[in-house]
Amino acid sequence: MSFAKTCTLNTGASLRQIGLGTWLSKPKEVENAVEIAVRNGYRHLDLAMIYENQDEVGAALKKVIPSVVKREDLFLTSKCWNSSHQPDQVEKELNETLKQLGVDYLDLYLIHWPVAFAPSKGFYPAHPTVEGEVEIDDKTTLADTWKAMLALPKSKVKAVGVSNFTIEQIEGIIKATGAVPAVNQIEAHPLLPQDDLVAYCKEKGIHITAYSPLGNNLVGKPKLTDDSTVISIAKKLNATPAQVLIAWGAYRGYSVIPKSVQEERIKSNFQEVQLSKEDYDALTGLSKNGHTRYNIPFTYTPRWSINIFGEEIEKGATYSVNIA
Ligand SMILES: NC(=O)c1ccc[n+]([C@@H]2O[C@H](COP(=O)([O-])OP(=O)(O)OC[C@H]3O[C@@H](n4cnc5c(N)ncnc54)[C@H](OP(=O)(O)O)[C@@H]3O)[C@@H](O)[C@H]2O)c1
Repeated sequence: MSFAKTCTLNTGASLRQIGLGTWLSKPKEVENAVEIAVRNGYRHLDLAMIYENQDEVGAALKKVIPSVVKREDLFLTSKCWNSSHQPDQVEKELNETLKQLGVDYLDLYLIHWPVAFAPSKGFYPAHPTVEGEVEIDDKTTLADTWKAMLALPKSKVKAVGVSNFTIEQIEGIIKATGAVPAVNQIEAHPLLPQDDLVAYCKEKGIHITAYSPLGNNLVGKPKLTDDSTVISIAKKLNATPAQVLIAWGAYRGYSVIPKSVQEERIKSNFQEVQLSKEDYDALTGLSKNGHTRYNIPFTYTPRWSINIFGEEIEKGATYSVNIA
């Protein structure tokens, strides 16, 4: 059975629980992937300027709107990149995203990371003196960017939210503006359940979208789809390991955005599998020996020398997040 469940945002809008991720979906792959997804029932697409593939997503949207789906029946999320955090840049980048996608509005626009980069020098501005690092803008605060997001015309974005924000960072922007984000999109899977952040967001009415539900998308890192507990539950349920991991996220009530560019996987990832409480608990137990966060920009090339999450490995960073 295809996933048909919806979740409701604090704006009253609803979105399908399972969406299609598009990070690292290559040119010539993503247009096809989006078209296949929409033809097979996906209505929620996760996009971003930094994925550098929104033109192709736009080409796919042209093929399916309105012949397969009406624009208003799709839920399109995109994200403001770090080099456009400065208040005068926020709407400019949004306009570029709308142009690339060939649509008049987004359903949801997120601050992609709680990190501002120097503006107007490309997506990864080189640090002027430290080789291998990006130039962080430590003057523009999260509150500055959040205010600019809130000021975006409702005709262009139906809802605004954040991504990769911690409790402290969310508290800071709410305190500065009184406005609660609609969504926090975060890495979440059985090795990184993020229980405290999920509970905090639930209490505040902030919807969680879980990214990297299959663990990660990075070359050379172990995949959660190869984990023996995941595989044995999948065998028992006559399901794929990916379906089991997506079901684990769905069981927690938030939305989940697995990425694939392969037709069979796009289709099977969208087939709903029911987990028993016992299976859910067994998967949740995977994090009991310590969590694994895959997506830490301090470890990227080029390095972002900023402590975002308070992970041990980030302790050597030069900057901390400038909240307000
Ligand atoms: N807000 C953020 O900062 C942020 C960060 C990361 C991700 N995201 C979003 O979340 C989406 C999902 O996260 P992700 O891309 O990091 O990781 P993911 O969805 O957990 O995993 C994607 C990887 O799993 C493979 N895969 C997909 N279906 C599979 C299946 N049925 N069996 C085995 N392998 C399968 C994909 O390869 P194939 O394509 O070859 O199938 C790809 O290598 C992204 O695409 C992006 O839209 C957001």
